[in-house]
Amino acid sequence: MPEIAYVNGRFCPIDEAVISINDRGFQFADSVYEVVAAYEGAPFRLQAHLDRLRRSLSLIDMEIDERRIDFAGIIREGIARAGFARTLAYLQVTRGVQARSHLHSADLAPTVVATFRPKPEVDPAARAAGISVVTVCDTRRVECEIKATALLANVLALNRARRKGYDDAIFVSPAGEIREGTASNVFVVRHGMLMTPVCDASILHGVTRQFVLECARRIEHPVRETRLTVADLQSADEAFFSSTTQDILAVTRVNRKPIGSGGVGPVTERLCETFLEGLGQPLEQ
Ligand code: PDD
Repeated sequence: MPEIAYVNGRFCPIDEAVISINDRGFQFADSVYEVVAAYEGAPFRLQAHLDRLRRSLSLIDMEIDERRIDFAGIIREGIARAGFARTLAYLQVTRGVQARSHLHSADLAPTVVATFRPKPEVDPAARAAGISVVTVCDTRRVECEIKATALLANVLALNRARRKGYDDAIFVSPAGEIREGTASNVFVVRHGMLMTPVCDASILHGVTRQFVLECARRIEHPVRETRLTVADLQSADEAFFSSTTQDILAVTRVNRKPIGSGGVGPVTERLCETFLEGLGQPLEQ
């Protein structure tokens, strides 16, 4: 099966997809995106992804005429054309093409691109043992709830963490509050309570995060959305990441010290099972 792309109304093989170097997405990262997983052809929580995309567009002052650009249709058609058992669909909307100028014209046509690839499996060793993270100062822009393609701080944090022998990094506010991973939300289990940072502008409002909260309620595990510090993470019994690409992934070491027993904990395991069961249920609201 070929990996395919979509560019402004046309599907094509991924290597043939091109956009202008004058595209504001390329010049200024003046663009937002979504990553949607599909299982056996069914996009997971598509409505939630589209709602977040609309919110991101509105927060960057972009208005899209959805009678002309059918985001759901593009994603569904791409997934169907690609035909993978598990697909990772990437959709990006930029403000459009214009000779480089910080000031954008009022009449730009947005650029809409998408790619459809097989969803990579998470490394089985990481699944079995969990991953290690380093806490780093959050140097990102303020509005992290916008799913913007301006991800340089995330890219640098991940690559610097890897060079130092960690698997990933967790962004921490100047006040010492944990925010999120470089491409995931964070959960902590402490004294039997599942906790995750509150959804404000400092984190992405993860679709998977929301699903994990629903899974926890389904199994009647107590949950709390709250402020969490690095000390809370270090003294946690368990921790994990949630994201579209990694589902639930245990975090078992922070700053080279074990979290809890240092292995994948029972609450994480139970939530993983509930999560996977959930993927097999009717997936869209
Ligand atoms: N990233 N926080 C950040 C900074 C992210 O980039 C992501 C996802 C998440 C989790 O969101 P969700 O559960 O909706 O995938 C949290 C995607 C997968 C990416 O950039 O590839």
